[in-house]
Amino acid sequence: MSSVILASASTDLARRVRLASGDNLFVLTPEQVPTGPAQLLGLSNGTGPVQAVMLDVTGDGSQDSSLGLAERFKEQFPHVAVLLVTDKPAELGLPALRAGVRDLIEPELPINELRWVIRRAIETSAAGMGGSAANDPDPVGRVITVASPKGGVGKTTLATNLAVGLAHQSPQGTVLVDLDIQFGDVAAALDLDPAYTLADVVHGSGLRDVTALKTLLTKHRTGLHVLSGVKSPVEADDITAQHVATIIGLLKSEFRYVVIDTAPGMGSHTLAALDHTTDLVLVASLDVPSVRGLRKELQLLDELELPPATRHIAVNMVDRSGGLSLADVEATIERKVDFAIPRSPKVIASTNRGRPLLEDQARDKISRDLEQLVGRFSPIAVRKSTLSWTSRHRGAAS
Ligand SMILES: Nc1ncnc2c1ncn2[C@@H]1O[C@H](COP(=O)(O)OP(=O)(O)O)[C@@H](O)[C@H]1O
Ligand SMILES: [Mg+2]
Repeated sequence: MSSVILASASTDLARRVRLASGDNLFVLTPEQVPTGPAQLLGLSNGTGPVQAVMLDVTGDGSQDSSLGLAERFKEQFPHVAVLLVTDKPAELGLPALRAGVRDLIEPELPINELRWVIRRAIETSAAGMGGSAANDPDPVGRVITVASPKGGVGKTTLATNLAVGLAHQSPQGTVLVDLDIQFGDVAAALDLDPAYTLADVVHGSGLRDVTALKTLLTKHRTGLHVLSGVKSPVEADDITAQHVATIIGLLKSEFRYVVIDTAPGMGSHTLAALDHTTDLVLVASLDVPSVRGLRKELQLLDELELPPATRHIAVNMVDRSGGLSLADVEATIERKVDFAIPRSPKVIASTNRGRPLLEDQARDKISRDLEQLVGRFSPIAVRKSTLSWTSRHRGAAS
């Protein structure tokens, strides 16, 4: 049986962690925490092998000793996931990740999100991923750019669903950037009213370091962080490709998943993002102009000397009405289609409501098709057990 150790003086947090972790929980106060990992693990003897240690540093001065302890865990017991509970995530983010902390948890995090964070931390640590930016075999985040030659094919739909789907796996480790800088509609698609946008980032201190940048992100109700496009198209002129490169570079040092929505075509902002992109999702709809555009874009990408990124082809709005088939698309682009997403009125309704379909983790066909996309990037997204686990607990959790 697995177990979790929580060092906190808060009985409320202990109650929520107990409900969230579901396994054996051993609670002690921060003063009782020994300096060595072995002693700490020894204290909980009898509750089964410890998989996660949560150190609550909210509102007290124990953060240095806790980071020191996390560091020793990283060296001596890398399979144990260390999590930090803090009300200052922006301040502690970087030192914590360097110390090998798997994730930061806000003290008020609801039970269902706590469950995700703990589970995710345990899975990645147990899988030998170490779970931190410092000892992850893939030390920086995965940068997933969603692009297409044409507008209206579903880039924003796929980017928002992908980001929300990944945020369910890694609530504090996913950021969505709206690089359709002039006419972006990510905020609307997520029903957000951002206090800050890209314009504030380039005019303020957001380019200086990731901590400053994080304070300009908007938090979505799923835990997803969002960097919005500008509010008025004229502001877009101030944002250069160099700004974009700096921003993506900072975000990928901090977030496990950076999802980027783009404007149609290969503008300078998109090209700057491609320099950091690990995965490029190319979207076309099932009509001749869009598929031809996709073929040209693939040719262009071959000609440009960009860093290698894995390409994923998504054909959206698939239906039989236009007489074009997926086989026709594959023949035109001379490669296979990775994802086919049907045309569905549920998608339009979700756009209009500002609530991506994957936010609700429904089990209908269109949600499952969108989930395939998430599964490509997240090791635990499409495992059946995980999904049923999630849906089983969702209603009861909060
Ligand atoms: N699979 C789909 N079925 C039906 N409508 C879709 C589908 N995908 C996207 N749409 C709708 O098409 C419109 C354009 O999608 P959007 O994601 O904004 O495209 P883009 O970002 O490429 O311009 C939106 O109203 C969206 O709801
Ligand atoms: Mg769009």
